[in-house]
Amino acid sequence: MVIQNFARHAAPGRRVEAGQGCRGLRQPSILQRGRRHARRTVAALSFWNVWWQKKNSLGKLSRYTRHARPLRGFTYTRRDKKMLKKIDASQLKLGMYIHDLSCDWMTHPFVRNRFLLASDDEIRKIREAGIHDVVIDSARGLDVQDAPTLAEAQARTEAELTVIAAAPVIVTRVSVGEELKRAAMIRHQAAGLVRAVMQDARLGKAIELDQVSPMVQSITESILRNPGALMSLLRIKTADDYTFLHSVSVCTLLVAFCRSRNMDAEATYQAGLGGLLHDTGKALVPDRILNKPGPLTDEEFAVIKQHPKNGYDILLKTPEIGPIPLDITLHHHERRDGSGYPDKQGEGTISELAQMAAIVDVYDAITADRCYHKGMSAAEALRKIYEWSKFHFNPAYVQEFMRCVGIYPVGTMVMLESGRLGVVIEAHATNLLAPKINVFFNTKKNVYIQPETVDLSRPVGFGGGDKIVRHEAPAKWKVDPMKFLVVA
Ligand SMILES: [Fe+2]
Repeated sequence: MVIQNFARHAAPGRRVEAGQGCRGLRQPSILQRGRRHARRTVAALSFWNVWWQKKNSLGKLSRYTRHARPLRGFTYTRRDKKMLKKIDASQLKLGMYIHDLSCDWMTHPFVRNRFLLASDDEIRKIREAGIHDVVIDSARGLDVQDAPTLAEAQARTEAELTVIAAAPVIVTRVSVGEELKRAAMIRHQAAGLVRAVMQDARLGKAIELDQVSPMVQSITESILRNPGALMSLLRIKTADDYTFLHSVSVCTLLVAFCRSRNMDAEATYQAGLGGLLHDTGKALVPDRILNKPGPLTDEEFAVIKQHPKNGYDILLKTPEIGPIPLDITLHHHERRDGSGYPDKQGEGTISELAQMAAIVDVYDAITADRCYHKGMSAAEALRKIYEWSKFHFNPAYVQEFMRCVGIYPVGTMVMLESGRLGVVIEAHATNLLAPKINVFFNTKKNVYIQPETVDLSRPVGFGGGDKIVRHEAPAKWKVDPMKFLVVA
């Protein structure tokens, strides 16, 4: 009987039900039971551990809400990222959900950046606006099966940037900390000068070059000492001073760009002059349109589009103005694919300096906070411009501009591999991915730490030994990275 039962239950593939005889033959051994129990215990502990960590970290973070916020809804972000696809504008179809128009938000003709494509007219408007690729959300609309996900497209861009990063950059004469005070003074004075120039232009008065020229000189000298100080300070703008500080910023960036391309002093000065005066035509745009707290209508945008020609006409009346500032003023909104204005110039017809001005103009505009739009971080803006460079800008100039300001420009907030948050204070001479960072926050412990300078080009034990994981938006952590540009 025992043997029969043994044979019956020991047959291969035979399931032993509860209550059947000879259970001992199919029951797990004490060792097996122990292992199974251990596995279940580990699984349970892991679950509770994750739950506890999440609960605990959220609880901890809530005490720091003045300074830091938890990463927002990472489970949703992970799911959404797979659904976001980057497609060519020629692949657009009704029923697709636009997640990002992937363009300079100031110039696109839609009230919102995210919407369901409901008419052929919307598709036509996207293509006419010179938008060549868009990001769609396949969870909320039609999909394009073989299109790369947004994450894949971003990874490709990062890989390409790594190649660009291995290039010599501008050598500075003083540290950012030393230059900041002087740069703050220049920023203030230059904004006041541009405000006065635009007031004069509105009254029909000529621009007095003998007042503008010394300011271009001061800006150039600050760039020569340390370009990071003035460039990072000029990223801070309010709605009231945006128009004036944008002009100062374009001047500063153009001077730094010319210098990094080893252009001669006279061309650099003329480019700086063009940068400072490039938006003078906006003096004739009514304030209700220029400072409208919302997207522009087609009619209002048509008025804005007149500012390059109006500025050109104003500058023409200025004695001793050269051809470079005139060209920059008239053509800084032209695009390589002919989608710009006022002359719809295309590749081969836009001058070198007007192309450079177009890059710095867009870079500064999309990094600025406006009353109805949050500015991108400098690092994110550079990546966007790099992506657009296939159609709108000269790709070689864009790469040179990235070498000029850095893949992670001074003032950019970054997350390090160690979990520390920091702000970039100085680019490395030959590796743009290894700048000097002032670290100030430990995200693993969610505490501020004693600020210290970490040189990413150095090994562990020699003031380095860390690596940038990604750039971070200061708004996400509710910190002002500018406060940490200088270690006390
Ligand atoms: Fe402009």
